[in-house]
Amino acid sequence: MRPIYYPEPFRIKSVEPLKLLTREERRQRLQEANYNMFSLAARDVYIDLLTDSGTGAMSAAQWSGVMVGDESYAGAESYYHLQEAAGEIFRMPYLQLVHQGRAAEKVLLPILLSGKKYAIANMHFDTTRAHVELAGARAIDCVVPEALDTSTYCDFKGNMDCERLNSLIKELGAENVGVVIMTITNNSAGGQPVSVENIKKTAEIAHKYHIPFMIDAARCAENAYFIKRREKAYGSCSIPEILHACFEDADCFTMSAKKDAIVNMGGLIGCRDKALFEAVKQRTISLEGFVTYGGMSGRDIEALAVGLKEGIDENFLRYRIGQMEYLAARLDEAGIPYQSPVGGHAVFVDAKKLLPHIPYYQFPAQALAVELYLEAGIRACDIGSFLLGNDPDTGKQLEADFEFTRLAIPRRVYTQSHLDVIADALINIKERAASIKGYKIVEEPPILRHFTAKLRPVE
Ligand code: F0G
Repeated sequence: MRPIYYPEPFRIKSVEPLKLLTREERRQRLQEANYNMFSLAARDVYIDLLTDSGTGAMSAAQWSGVMVGDESYAGAESYYHLQEAAGEIFRMPYLQLVHQGRAAEKVLLPILLSGKKYAIANMHFDTTRAHVELAGARAIDCVVPEALDTSTYCDFKGNMDCERLNSLIKELGAENVGVVIMTITNNSAGGQPVSVENIKKTAEIAHKYHIPFMIDAARCAENAYFIKRREKAYGSCSIPEILHACFEDADCFTMSAKKDAIVNMGGLIGCRDKALFEAVKQRTISLEGFVTYGGMSGRDIEALAVGLKEGIDENFLRYRIGQMEYLAARLDEAGIPYQSPVGGHAVFVDAKKLLPHIPYYQFPAQALAVELYLEAGIRACDIGSFLLGNDPDTGKQLEADFEFTRLAIPRRVYTQSHLDVIADALINIKERAASIKGYKIVEEPPILRHFTAKLRPVE
């Protein structure tokens, strides 16, 4: 019996034209871009899977929100709409707007990490790691070991390894750990979900040592949908009820609203403690803007208030996760390896397994991303050794745990036919996998090199 994938719970009112260049043109564009996906012009891309962040399609209701957005400097009506929508979802007493996820990190993390040496997370997203380090602390990942094995099924591969967390805190000294972070879903492990049970257990451990517990909520709605499907105790709960269960033990959260709230720009901070919120407000005013706009225009705040609600709609989430499952099922049929079970916002193709002849220092996941563009004008990105970079002490290339080529699917943007193009392209690439070459870096900046480094194929 073939599974039924839930079709789009919307129809299309406005479209953007796409153009597929010829193979020869694509070959040329790759060369001109020095084989770096970030250097390609978006107009030359047919299906853009670089990220699901800020790339979603807004609804008619969101666009009408844009028209009525209140641009007042202080106390704008849109601010109150957002407070109401976010207050209902997160049930945190204090909420602060900021312009995106990393702005939330920039405001909150230095407060939590002042005088501290460590942050521990299931896995830190790159910008979270960067802000931990900018605050003078070290970021330690503590994901369950199941996450590292891409071919074995596990319901909650994004979970914190609680036993290890407990011993890490004892070993490092509880007084040195400024925050325990739970990223839901766990982006870096492949958009993998975290269970309510694990969130609560993690919060309990953090609180036992009087360490604040923070949620990185970028994809909390997708995470809640996985919980509904996989965690027995919550199978009959609504998405809002599951979200309440996820957030009720958290002391604070940061959120990039560019993902599950389906807006092109926006972020949030939530706090339970008044004193912490006062510190957040002060930093927001100097870094982002006055508290009622936090670096956002009123129209974007209004669209966010609407998008937060649309992003937790169960029909939408069923379709959204269904898109990943459809693509994953096509890859299963063709024997193409990926982080399995498929995550919430992307398919993470296991380039280490698909291109086993390319060593980590020749960047197999980047090589696959290049081939996808060449094959069908698809833009994906490397989440592997190319992204990881060099050891800051020795300057030597580090070897990543994973070599993923991430196919991040923007929300409400591409149809099932586009997903078929992606699957067909991968199938063609698999057939000629043995002939695909690795890459070497010919020019790179010292930090965050993957955005601007120049590469050449290895001869
Ligand atoms: N946390 C997580 C889990 C993220 O995935 C991101 C961004 C951020 C924080 C930072 O948010 O971009 O609004 O500043 N992830 C994007 C991605 C960029 O492509 O995965 P931001």
